[in-house]
Amino acid sequence: MAALRNLLVAASVASVAVASGSDSLKSCLRYALTDSGSVAFPGDLFYQQVDVNRYNLNIPVTPAAVTFPTSSQQVAAVVKCAADNEYPVQAKSGGHSYGNYGLGGTDGTVVVDLKHLQQFSMDSTTWIATIGSGTLLGDVTQRLHDAGGRAMSHGTCPQVGSGGHFTIGGLGPTSRQFGAALDHIVEAEVVLANSSIVTASDTQNQDVFFAIKGAASGFGIVTEFKVRTEPEPGTAVKYEYTFKVGSTQERADLFKQWQAYVSNPNLTRKLASTLTVLEDSMVITGTFFGTEEEYNALDIGSQWPGVNGSAIVFQDWLGLVGNWAEEAALQLGGGVPSNFYSKSTAWTPSNLMNSDTIDKMFEYIDNADKGTLAWFILFDFQGGYTNDIPTDATAYAHRDVLIWLQSYSINLLGSVTQTQINFLDEVNSLVTNDGAPYSAYPGYVDPLMEHGPEAYWGANLPRLQQIKEEIDPQNVFRNPQSPSPAN
Ligand SMILES: Cc1cc2nc3c(=O)[nH]c(=O)nc-3n(C[C@H](O)[C@H](O)[C@H](O)COP(=O)(O)OP(=O)(O)OC[C@H]3O[C@@H](n4cnc5c(N)ncnc54)[C@H](O)[C@@H]3O)c2cc1C
Ligand SMILES: *[C@@H]1O[C@H](CO)[C@@H](O)[C@H](O)[C@H]1NC(C)=O
Ligand SMILES: *[C@@H]1O[C@H](CO)[C@@H](O)[C@H](O)[C@H]1NC(C)=O
Ligand SMILES: *[C@@H]1O[C@H](CO)[C@@H](O)[C@H](O)[C@H]1NC(C)=O
Repeated sequence: MAALRNLLVAASVASVAVASGSDSLKSCLRYALTDSGSVAFPGDLFYQQVDVNRYNLNIPVTPAAVTFPTSSQQVAAVVKCAADNEYPVQAKSGGHSYGNYGLGGTDGTVVVDLKHLQQFSMDSTTWIATIGSGTLLGDVTQRLHDAGGRAMSHGTCPQVGSGGHFTIGGLGPTSRQFGAALDHIVEAEVVLANSSIVTASDTQNQDVFFAIKGAASGFGIVTEFKVRTEPEPGTAVKYEYTFKVGSTQERADLFKQWQAYVSNPNLTRKLASTLTVLEDSMVITGTFFGTEEEYNALDIGSQWPGVNGSAIVFQDWLGLVGNWAEEAALQLGGGVPSNFYSKSTAWTPSNLMNSDTIDKMFEYIDNADKGTLAWFILFDFQGGYTNDIPTDATAYAHRDVLIWLQSYSINLLGSVTQTQINFLDEVNSLVTNDGAPYSAYPGYVDPLMEHGPEAYWGANLPRLQQIKEEIDPQNVFRNPQSPSPAN
């Protein structure tokens, strides 16, 4: 538990340092937000349970205040109160950061809860949608559908917020075809550290635009997105192949077959695929965006002979998205808070695991003390459109990734144990090829990871630090792993 305990000690030191300005902060916020219930402070009734409402119960955090502004102007006023009193600021949209970074990730942050920013409109000439940054993904899907049968790429958990998802990446089943959620953003309204409200796009405030597409939490608060949309995909086929137990070698061989299949550069972008390793099984699931005939012609099942498969055909987009949500709920309990730890890493087409490494990974997985049965490891096939965008075009840097690893260990009884953490750490170190720079997905926050900013933003970190120096030199917008100013 040493690592977790260090995190706790760091958190309590921070809270002492900021305590002095608290009266002045309170009066400033109460003056800025006059509606009843629009600001809450530690000590208020149900502060932790209702206003704070942590997602990862394993990470304690007490914000200095939680605010509920109703407009961009109020967001700006809150930022000004916090900056003038030297408090850090974080936006909270859906509150689903694995590190509770929407609450600051550590004590003493002024939280800007965006739940009232629900504006929505569709321009039916350009099919560009305007979306308030407090909108949850489930509502994004529904509102785009209602506004002319439109869609965009995003993840599958409906309780995740657009604010944290569109600004960090946003990978989902359609990303191989349409890009990450952030690749849809054509313009954003952003509140900066000096509390000015600016428009960021390819032609205005380009540095801000670059930074908010992948690293927004350290650069400002997006209040509104304008996004490109696509016609809803029509017919789609959801497939699932389940492999119960099997020897370690059989499991490793199945993984090798899957990796070989998805690493064929000619594979259609209409196919999404995830391989999940669980305590007692391996599952290959995904969606094919096309007709049943086209799906059958792919003959996926022949890739893994002897494995049981099934497929469901969906004619309607909302039905398909609803089915993904049920699947997400089975995996991580969906939107429900729990004690868990998670890690990520990635491979590009040129550094995929070789056969020996895959064998070693399964030997380790099958023999290690995992500290729980409630663990799983996902291997997400990426590539496609997300690889078409140059690395230096957006803060999101992992443009060469073909496969993402996400690992999870959950404790339903209390805090995550060091044994659970060690297991996920060891898997990551086994599979990361020597010498390859360590990559992590910034949307799967790993608060215990060293060199977080390097792993999250890779080659784009120096430019982000430069922009940070220019637009937020006092580091107003911060969490434990956001980029620091260059000087
Ligand atoms: C069950 C579950 C399933 C998931 N599935 C996927 C998936 O399929 N694909 C995927 O890519 N990711 C997925 N994620 C990860 C998810 O994208 C991130 O956790 C995301 O950052 C959460 O956004 P949020 O708004 O809900 O969280 P919050 O905690 O509110 O915010 C997360 C971070 O973003 C910042 N932020 C929020 N809003 C704004 C804003 N308007 N302006 C600037 N900064 C802002 C916050 O300050 C914080 O640092 C999943 C997470 C969960 C819990
Ligand atoms: C396929 O399903 C059958 C019947 O449920 C089961 O006995 C068999 O073990 C399964 N095969 C694999 C490879 O999981
Ligand atoms: C991909 O397609 C090209 C052109 O049809 C072909 O030459 C190549 O061999 C294919 N590659 C693989 C790995 O199938
Ligand atoms: C606020 O900061 C931005 C970015 O640095 C700058 O362009 C703008 O002029 C500043 N506004 C004010 C009022 O100082």
